[in-house]
Amino acid sequence: MLILGIESSCDETAASVSENGTNILSSVISTQIEEHKKYGGVVPEIASRRHSENILGVVKEALEKSGKTLEEIDAIAVTYAPGLIGALLVGVNFAKGLAMATGKPLVPVHHIAGHIASNYIAHPELEPPYLCLVASGGHSHIIEVLSHTDFRVVGKTRDDAAGECFDKCARALGFPYPGGVHIDKASSLGNPDAYKLPVPRVAGSQYDFSFSGLKTAVINTVHNASQKGETVNANDMAAAVQRTISEILVSKTILAARDLGYKKIVLAGGVSANSGVRNKLTEECQKNNFELFMPPLSLCGDNGAMIACQGYFNYKAGITADAGLNAVATMPIDKLNS
Ligand code: KG4
Ligand code: ZN
Repeated sequence: MLILGIESSCDETAASVSENGTNILSSVISTQIEEHKKYGGVVPEIASRRHSENILGVVKEALEKSGKTLEEIDAIAVTYAPGLIGALLVGVNFAKGLAMATGKPLVPVHHIAGHIASNYIAHPELEPPYLCLVASGGHSHIIEVLSHTDFRVVGKTRDDAAGECFDKCARALGFPYPGGVHIDKASSLGNPDAYKLPVPRVAGSQYDFSFSGLKTAVINTVHNASQKGETVNANDMAAAVQRTISEILVSKTILAARDLGYKKIVLAGGVSANSGVRNKLTEECQKNNFELFMPPLSLCGDNGAMIACQGYFNYKAGITADAGLNAVATMPIDKLNS
């Protein structure tokens, strides 16, 4: 079965053709990072406009590179939630038009489910149930993946997402947007013990995260230093930030896995590219005898292949949409089928 997957939830316009979910025939990603860099973050209206300009070319290229024609495609999958509403609307309307014009089924895909599905592409042997840590620019979740299409959130961030925290700390240290990857590089040159950063306590759920206090501590340290005419050592602070975020994400995931009886752990989302998170999770999974699955770096960020893959599983589960499909900015992953 051939699926065309379309993604436009943030600052990447992406499309992919995949066969039976996991065999990627093509994957095209047009990123807008250079343009948003000037503003230090994603400007929603610019993102929508660029998606509008790029989407036809990206989809055409994905079809060409796959060696398949539009007629041969069996279903059209698209990210409809969550994300920047204007950005999502471009992909949703494009996919709706294509589905209506060709008479092919339209398959709605939740962006986080897509990130999780990137692991099925890399590890075809991976089967639910398992526990997944999803950390991206907009989300930090611990999710029970009960089946390919059934999810239960057991922990989430109360404020900033892990990726957002990486990016805001990076900005305070003078790195360009998106800063996560710069923190990653700089931290390999720094001493994480040089700065002591707060590890937040979250009242209520022991599996929930909070990153805003950490972000504020870094920003305050940088400002206080500059008021005294001093500078913060960016490599040392990057190393401290990376170690703190990695420890928070991994310790809560391991705790949840132990409590809930999961021995299979999966990592997903843009922050899954972070070397500190990957190393810490690998180390802790080894200690606990847990099996660990992580996406390759090429599938960590937003891409169309993960949407095509999750689109395949959704279609198999009978999840399709009609012309009434709308984009939704906020949509919990465990409220999909209710
Ligand atoms: O999943 P994603 O591409 O987009 C969203 O759905 O949000 O995640 C983007 C986030 C950004 O915050 C980016 O800085 C972060 O992932 N990121 C990283 C690394 N690579 C990407 N954070 C830390 N270390 C990295 N190597
Ligand atoms: Zn994403």
